Amino acid sequence: MRLYTPADADALAALLTGSSWPFHGRPGVDAEAARGMTGGFHGDGVRAFWIGGALGVIRLVDLGDPTAVVDLRIAAAHRGRGLGPAALRFATSYAFAGFPGLRRVEGVTRLDNTAMRAVFTRCGYVKEGHHRRAWPAAGTWHDAITYAVLREDWASGTTTPVDWAS
Ligand SMILES: CC(C)(COP(=O)(O)OP(=O)(O)OC[C@H]1O[C@@H](n2cnc3c(N)ncnc32)[C@H](O)[C@@H]1OP(=O)(O)O)[C@@H](O)C(=O)NCCC(=O)NCCS
Repeated sequence: MRLYTPADADALAALLTGSSWPFHGRPGVDAEAARGMTGGFHGDGVRAFWIGGALGVIRLVDLGDPTAVVDLRIAAAHRGRGLGPAALRFATSYAFAGFPGLRRVEGVTRLDNTAMRAVFTRCGYVKEGHHRRAWPAAGTWHDAITYAVLREDWASGTTTPVDWAS
């Protein structure tokens, strides 16, 4: 996995415009929007990595906070081949190993994004939140699901369940 730098902006814009992103706020990204989005892939507390050359990108934000947030995108032609879980495992380890103050890594996805939800679970993330009608898309509202992994669970390879009864 190679660190994204601002010199990669054109390649990132090509990735963003080259596929449909049905579970993101902007399913189709045009060239102008893509150029605007590239600024969010580097900077303070932000690290992004290329997946499989330039087949996808995984991004961590808020790495200086107790909770960082992760987001990943794989080009349409390369989905369903296990790249997502490998990238998420790498990014999770990178975050905890490199940022000692980090307690948790969190991600949010749409209820109907079964692929991303499977990836979170496969990588030791636990469902922590279910936000009804929180995700607007094409004239409707979807439920949003939050997953997170704790530092201690990452270190021990276990999963601490949410205490829903309390
Ligand atoms: C979600 C995403 C990151 C998952 O990564 P991936 O490399 O495709 O993950 P996997 O190969 O492990 O596939 C995960 C599951 O989804 C299924 N899947 C993924 N893409 C699929 C596709 N295009 N067609 C059919 N099934 C697919 C896989 O079969 C697998 O199912 P399983 O858990 O029953 O084995 C990737 O599909 C993607 O980039 N999607 C678009 C962007 C997106 O939704 N990002 C998440 C935003 S929060």
